[in-house]
Amino acid sequence: MSDDIQIGTDGRLNHFISLEELPRELIEELLTTADSFIDFATRDTKKVPLLRGKTVVNLFFEPSTRTRTTFEIAAKRLSADVITMQSDGMSTTKGETILDTVSTLQAMHTDTFVVRHSFSGTADLIARHVPQHVHIINAGDGRYSHPTQALLDMLTIRQRKPNFNNLTVVIVGDVLHSRVARSEISALKKLGAGEIRIVSPRTLIPTGLEALGVRIFTDLDEGLKDADVIVMLRLQLERMEGQLIPSEREYYRYYGLTEERLKNAKPDVMVMHPGPINRGLEIASSVADGSHSVILSQVSNGVAVRMAVMSKIMGGFRQSG
Ligand code: CP
Repeated sequence: MSDDIQIGTDGRLNHFISLEELPRELIEELLTTADSFIDFATRDTKKVPLLRGKTVVNLFFEPSTRTRTTFEIAAKRLSADVITMQSDGMSTTKGETILDTVSTLQAMHTDTFVVRHSFSGTADLIARHVPQHVHIINAGDGRYSHPTQALLDMLTIRQRKPNFNNLTVVIVGDVLHSRVARSEISALKKLGAGEIRIVSPRTLIPTGLEALGVRIFTDLDEGLKDADVIVMLRLQLERMEGQLIPSEREYYRYYGLTEERLKNAKPDVMVMHPGPINRGLEIASSVADGSHSVILSQVSNGVAVRMAVMSKIMGGFRQSG
């Protein structure tokens, strides 16, 4: 039996920690809801009163530009009251535990905490300690999971290539340290992606990865053959212990996505990157800014996806029709 705590005994989504245990139908429902929120961004009035009266606290113990800002914008567009706290402004720097910080903020009647932390399992730990009516959304924890990133990536793919069964999706780079890769593989499997490939130096491939049903390549040109979607990963130097690549220059030479290498893929290939991007390390500027790149669409979709997750958890939002 699973000890997953995301879905309550009443069948409601209480927390959003990782995609592994969630049913395909729920993931598809969230994507459809997110799609319905897309055009709010270009309306004169961008807000809807779905979460009026609710309080969201963003707890970011790790740096973030995209996730932090899009969660805050999403909460505001849903008319929730939102506060964003970053680690250098929190009492954890004075010795308070994360659970005591959460209890303190929960005493102010917070409805949902959005949590980013460098330790795997932080969001799950908090979810097991809060009262039943309080919700936890994982905004990225260590190497474990970044479920809203995977959802927004699936939305970005689905908008352009809706038939996942026919897709060859290639994830390139530092899989060993990547929470995005884990969540991405899980989402792609659930949505029935035709083939999932991993391209990485051997030192950056976690043991047992094949068991997830992916094909592993160490040669980038080979791995990119006839790809429909390429997901480039950031080289996560801050999580690397020891020398796992000979040098950044050599990494770019063998694993950097250049215009020349892109020619191996299908002519209409999509190039994705969760960000932050390191130009000239994982990806050439001409590719990051080129016609195949959907990197900024991923960011825009982040707002809609986070609106969908928050409205589902706090408002029980259901798509009509
Ligand atoms: N993709 C992502 O998590 O980016 P940030 O670190 O800027 O939030």
